[in-house]
Amino acid sequence: MPIDFWTGWVAVLTIASLVGLAWVSYGVYFSGKKAGFDEESPTIWDENLREGAHPPPMWWFWTMLASLVFTLIYLILYPSFGSLSGTFQWSQGGELDERLVAHESTFGTRRTEIAQMDLAAIQEDELLMRAAKRVFDRQCAACHGLEAKGQADTFPNLRDDLWQWGNSAEAIEKSIRDGRQGIMVGWSSVLNRAEASYLAQYTVALAEAPPGSHPGKAKYDELCVACHGSDGTGMEALGAPDLTKGIYTYGGNTLTIKETILYGREGVMPAFGDVLDDMQIRLLVAWLTDGS
Ligand code: HEC
Ligand code: HEC
Repeated sequence: MPIDFWTGWVAVLTIASLVGLAWVSYGVYFSGKKAGFDEESPTIWDENLREGAHPPPMWWFWTMLASLVFTLIYLILYPSFGSLSGTFQWSQGGELDERLVAHESTFGTRRTEIAQMDLAAIQEDELLMRAAKRVFDRQCAACHGLEAKGQADTFPNLRDDLWQWGNSAEAIEKSIRDGRQGIMVGWSSVLNRAEASYLAQYTVALAEAPPGSHPGKAKYDELCVACHGSDGTGMEALGAPDLTKGIYTYGGNTLTIKETILYGREGVMPAFGDVLDDMQIRLLVAWLTDGS
């Protein structure tokens, strides 16, 4: 039990004032001096109101005594005497700790449960889906847009059919937990502008019909297949998007695609593994894979 200077000081003050109070009360009632009127030179107010010195009625004394006894008991039981903690060991902090423990054991288990829940089960639970949406709004919408439909030709739409890193629950969880960085190098040092234009047209054509002979094909086969595949369907391990779907993050007109080809793109999805807990990530995965 820490008894430092201030604890001692406060304790002494407390005792002194209590003893003082007791002494004064006792003195007033039992000093033996029966204080009546000062007959020699009475103080008279308003002509006939004589000032006396009678103590207040006895029940005042008993009330005072009772309060003193109560104070003493309180001082012993509760932390009120300097920094001593009282025999009950009660403290506001202690009460808070207990409530926290109770909260953790109710909601902590619930959180763990949800973190391991079946995705379909989460998707059927309206409340959980609302919670998921809230997490998304708070953590993700700034980039991916409120409805997760992407924005600014920079942040991917998460509600379409194109998943550059994969659309399995595992892949999406990994995207959230560890973040992603797609690196598409720029080819401005290798390609002249005409070649880049042909390539852009070829890229667009990939999404329409399988192009037979095309002035962009040779360069595509030379420079692009390694990541986007000879048929253009991409490679999830590298985050190289499927070019046959006609869905673009950065924009699908030939000019924008030419920009992409010449100067490259490096989208960064930050890692949320340290920001969100397992339950929140599970909720987000359920929300993002919800087809309905
Ligand atoms: C700072 C902006 C930013 C924030 C915040 C952000 N993202 Fe992303 N996210 C991106 C970018 C950029 C990409 C594309 C990465 C790339 O180009 O490879 C991405 C990619 C993804 C992908 C992969 C998409 C695919 O096609 O495979 C998923 C899933 C994803 N984000 C989910 C989320 C979720 C869930 C959150 C909230 C916890 C979130 N993101 C928060 C910027 C952000
Ligand atoms: C080293 C692997 C790699 C090579 C080689 C490569 N790409 Fe990419 N490409 C990617 C990655 C990864 C992305 C996604 C970039 C991002 O997430 O920011 C991408 C993105 C793109 C996009 C943007 C799609 C969108 O959503 O807007 C286009 C278009 C594209 N590539 C076309 C090409 C063409 C044409 C070539 C050949 C000149 C090529 N790429 C070569 C890896 C590659």
